[in-house]
Amino acid sequence: MRYKSFLTKHKQTQKCYPRHIAIIMDGNRRWAEKKGKMRIIGHQEGFKALKKAVRFSILKNLEILTVYAFSSENWNRPIFEIQYLMKLFSFMLENEMNNFKKYNIKFKVMGDITLFNKELQNNIHQAEKLTLNNNGLILNIAANYGGRWDIIQSVKKIINKVQKGILNVNDVTEDTFSKCLSTHQLLPVDLVIRTGGEKRISNFLLWQIAYSELYFTDILWPDFNQYVFQDAIDFFISRERRFGGF
Ligand code: IPE
Ligand code: IPE
Ligand code: MG
Repeated sequence: MRYKSFLTKHKQTQKCYPRHIAIIMDGNRRWAEKKGKMRIIGHQEGFKALKKAVRFSILKNLEILTVYAFSSENWNRPIFEIQYLMKLFSFMLENEMNNFKKYNIKFKVMGDITLFNKELQNNIHQAEKLTLNNNGLILNIAANYGGRWDIIQSVKKIINKVQKGILNVNDVTEDTFSKCLSTHQLLPVDLVIRTGGEKRISNFLLWQIAYSELYFTDILWPDFNQYVFQDAIDFFISRERRFGGF
C-alpha cells in the first residue's frame, strides 16, 4: 500500500510542464565574432534574445524564469565589456518597467549586488519594490551571482542563527539550508538550459539543480528563439523524473 502511494505521488511529477526554468545565456561574444562585429554588439543582441525569452515564457504560462546575466567570475573580463554589461542592465531597468507593469511581471535580482554602483543598486531595489505585487511571471536575474557564493552566504546565515540561539545545530537540515539560499522564495528549478555549446554549469545554481533536468544547445544566445525554447520544453516533458526512486 505504502509503495503504491509512493508510486502515485511520483507519477504525478512525471511528464509535467516545467514551472521554473533557468537559463545560462551563453555565446554572445562568439555570435558577434562570427558576424565580424564588436563583442558588445553580441551583448546587445543577447539582451534582445532575453526579451524574446520573457515574452515566450509569458505565452507558455511559465511561473519563473531565472537567467544568468553576470557571474561572480565575469569581473575578470575587460573593464570596457563589464561597463557595457552594467549599462545594459541599467538600460533594462529604465526601459522595461512599463513592460513589467503591462505584463504583470515580478522582477527580482539574486546575487551580490553590493559591488554594483549605487545608482544601479537603487534602481534594482526600486524595480523589485514596484513589481512586488505583480503575480504573473517572476523574472529572476542572476547578477554577480555564483553558486558557491550562494552556498557560503546561506552558511553564514545559518551560523548567525546558531550563534544567536535561534537555531540549534542539530536542527540544521536541507530544508533550513535551502531557506537561506537566494532562491528561497522560488519553486525548485525544473529545467536548466545552456546555450552556446558548452556543457558545464559555470558556477550557476549548484545546490538548487540537484535534480533539475539539463538541456544544452549549440545555438548562441543571440540566436535563441521560441523554437529553441520549445525544443527545450519538449525535452523536459519527455523526461521521466525519478528523483532517485523506482
Ligand atoms: C554570455 O555570453 C554573456 C555573459 C557572460 C555576460 P559570453 O559573453 O560568455 O559569450 P561567449 O560565451 O564568450 O561567446
Ligand atoms: C556563464 O558564462 C555566465 C553567464 C552566462 C552569465 P561564461 O561564458 O562566463 O562561462 P564560461 O567561462 O564559459 O565557463
Ligand atoms: Mg561565455
